[in-house]
Amino acid sequence: MTNKYKLQVYPALVLKQRAKEVLDFNQDLKEKTDAMFEIMYEYNGIGLAGNQAGIAERIVVVDLGKEQDQGRVFINPEIIEAGADRESSEEGCLSFPDIYEPVMRSKAIKIKYVDLQGNSHEEEMDGLLARCLQHEVDHLNGIVFVDRVSKARKIGLKKKLRNLAN
Ligand code: NI
Repeated sequence: MTNKYKLQVYPALVLKQRAKEVLDFNQDLKEKTDAMFEIMYEYNGIGLAGNQAGIAERIVVVDLGKEQDQGRVFINPEIIEAGADRESSEEGCLSFPDIYEPVMRSKAIKIKYVDLQGNSHEEEMDGLLARCLQHEVDHLNGIVFVDRVSKARKIGLKKKLRNLAN
């Protein structure tokens, strides 16, 4: 079966849009989530936000490969606490092929989200999962990782973005 959703790459406008809250936990939501996993695995990503599949809804899928963080779905995720302890680490994004830049993020966060059945959860996380969720929640707010790159790296980055847009 062909996927009716496609990976959205910079400068696609949907990447700059604020995604809408999910209100209906129905089969349609499950299908969108499945389509997002399919895209994420096709491009070997570890996380994908709705906008990146052209779905302007607050859906995030994550798969870090490790047992406990395999095939995870976060609907309407919200960061309710972000640790003051921050660190810089290199990030990439499927919507920005071949661009990798260091980004400052909180080392640990607490999030609130809803699962596919409509049940609410709170979860504390750190490490790669915390970084990934901060990156994906940014996407849902129309913010992309290159927006968070330090001033010093912005000039070099501009050239790479220009090449990507052409
Ligand atoms: Ni991304």
